[in-house]
Amino acid sequence: METGDLTVKPRPVCVEVEPHDAGVEHAEPVTIRTIRELVARGEPFACLTCYDATTARWLQRAGVHVLLVGDTAAEVILGYERTIDMPLEVLIALTAGVKRGAPRAMVMADMPFMSYQADEAEAIRNAGRFMTAGLADVVKIEADATFAPLVAKMTRAGIPVCGHIGSRPQQAGLSGGYGAAGKTAEEAERILGDAVSLQQAGAVMLLLEAVPDEVARRVMAVAKAPVIGIGAGTECHGQVLVLQDLLGLTDAPPRFAEPVASLGPVIQRAAAEWIARVRGGRIGGRRYSMSKGEAEKLRHAGRAPLNRAPPGTEIT
Ligand code: KIV
Repeated sequence: METGDLTVKPRPVCVEVEPHDAGVEHAEPVTIRTIRELVARGEPFACLTCYDATTARWLQRAGVHVLLVGDTAAEVILGYERTIDMPLEVLIALTAGVKRGAPRAMVMADMPFMSYQADEAEAIRNAGRFMTAGLADVVKIEADATFAPLVAKMTRAGIPVCGHIGSRPQQAGLSGGYGAAGKTAEEAERILGDAVSLQQAGAVMLLLEAVPDEVARRVMAVAKAPVIGIGAGTECHGQVLVLQDLLGLTDAPPRFAEPVASLGPVIQRAAAEWIARVRGGRIGGRRYSMSKGEAEKLRHAGRAPLNRAPPGTEIT
């Protein structure tokens, strides 16, 4: 039996979101058809990274169209310094968690480093696992034009692919770190060629990362598939950010990621408040208690000699 005894009045440490700020949940599942309709109407769509079911539930309530289970999980969830350290099995499990938390959002799974580059048959099988065990709606691969044959084979197998072009973090080892792409005319032309080849091969979406506005504009001029931008100006059909950057949880977010909240200090204050409550014996919540009869029995048992076995115990 619970007493209902509430010893501490909860003191909220963060500001409540006003109802008019809270977004609108989609009544129907967001599919590639939904995204194409938004694009046709000229309505930008919103995408955020997400790595767990609880957060996914809140993002779905806000009406975020696409949840990207990115290999940035290696950094923000697992604490690695590089996205290439993301284990395939873990990302499949996280993807399924996100879809279970937000069944009406479109869930895009990032294929991690070495899950699609070495061998096409393995790539298709891994992509298939993201869709079956991982419940993903779309898989994303970091790709240039040389991946067009793989995209065609995945598409033939029924796997919707998003081609991630521009800056490709899984290639950071070749350039010495993360950074912008397409800053020379030659590189910009190459990115344009990647966009055209991948969409011709069947890519249902493109994601364009960290390029100058001029490059984004050229890509948009040839784009037939919906384009999600990140650090690629405002002209793309949709926009994505890493959620932790948006929420103000990242110590050094990239230059294009402007936080809309400052949840890091909110979490810190909440944790400090918990420490103070623990120290002061003010842990709050509702306690458990025994019925009077059971409490009486316990009192009697407490008076009996310590080595006496409780009634009903078989002594061998
Ligand atoms: O892995 C990821 O989160 C991404 C975004 C940065 C686009 O690919």
